[in-house]
Amino acid sequence: MNADEYKGWVGVFDSGVGGISVLRALVSELPQERFVYFGDSAHAPYGEKTPKEVLDLSHGIVERLLGAGCKAIVIACNTATSAAAAQLRAAYPEVPIIGVEPALKPAVLATPDGAVLVMATPMTVRLEKFQHLMEEWGSGARVIAVPCEGLAARIEQGRLQDADLVELIDSLVGSYAGSVDAVVLGCTHYPFVIGQIRQVLGGVPFYDGGAGTARQLKRRLEECGLLASEEAAGAVEFLSSKDTPEELALYQSFFEA
Ligand code: DGL
Repeated sequence: MNADEYKGWVGVFDSGVGGISVLRALVSELPQERFVYFGDSAHAPYGEKTPKEVLDLSHGIVERLLGAGCKAIVIACNTATSAAAAQLRAAYPEVPIIGVEPALKPAVLATPDGAVLVMATPMTVRLEKFQHLMEEWGSGARVIAVPCEGLAARIEQGRLQDADLVELIDSLVGSYAGSVDAVVLGCTHYPFVIGQIRQVLGGVPFYDGGAGTARQLKRRLEECGLLASEEAAGAVEFLSSKDTPEELALYQSFFEA
C-alpha cells in the first residue's frame, strides 16, 4: 500500500475471508463508496490467539490503511472488535472506526421466550465485550454461547462443499439441534456456511452483524461529512497478507458467492 493510494476509500479488514460477508453488506448499503479490503490470512485465525496479539495485528493493519489515505475503517471481525476497537478509537480519535458485534439484541428481541444459540470464536465469547452484551440482552431469552474452535480456520481453507465441514459443525453444535429457536452468527466467517449450519441445526432464524454494521458506517460517514456523492462510482479492491493470486482469487469467489 503506497501513501495516498486509497485516499478517500473505506478500509475494511478481518483475519481473512470472513469480513467479506460484511463487505457485501457495506457495498449493498453504500454502492457509491470505494472499499479496500485487507484480509490477514497469513495470521488467521485470530480467535485462537491472545487479545494482545490481535490488538497488535489490528493496529498494524489500521496504520497501513490510514497511511494509504483511508477516510474510515470497518473492523469486519467480531474478534478484533472485542480485542482492539476501543484502543484503536483512542489512538485515532479523528477517524470513524466501526466494529461488528454478535447480533444478540435482534435475536433476543425476536425470540422472547426461546433459546438463542450464539456461535463465535473462543476469544469473542471470552472477552468482556461479549459479557457486557450478555448482561444487557442475555436475560430476554435463554442464551447459549458456544466457542467454535477451528471453524473459522476451516472456512479459510475454502472447499466449502466438502463433507468434513458439516461434520465439524455437527461436532461443535449438533447437540443443540431441535432445542434452539434462533442462531446468532457471531463470527464474520460463519455466514459463508449458513447452509451447512442449517443442515445441522434446522431451519431456525439466523442473525449476523453485517447489515447493522453497514447502517452504522453510513450514519458515521454522514455525521462526519465523509459520504461519497450519490453519483460517485463505487469500487472494491482486495489485499491479503497471504499475497498470492490463489488467495486473492479465493477472496473474489467469497465476494461473489
Ligand atoms: N472473522 C472473525 C470474527 O468475526 C475472526 C475469525 C478468526 O480469525 O478466528 O471473529
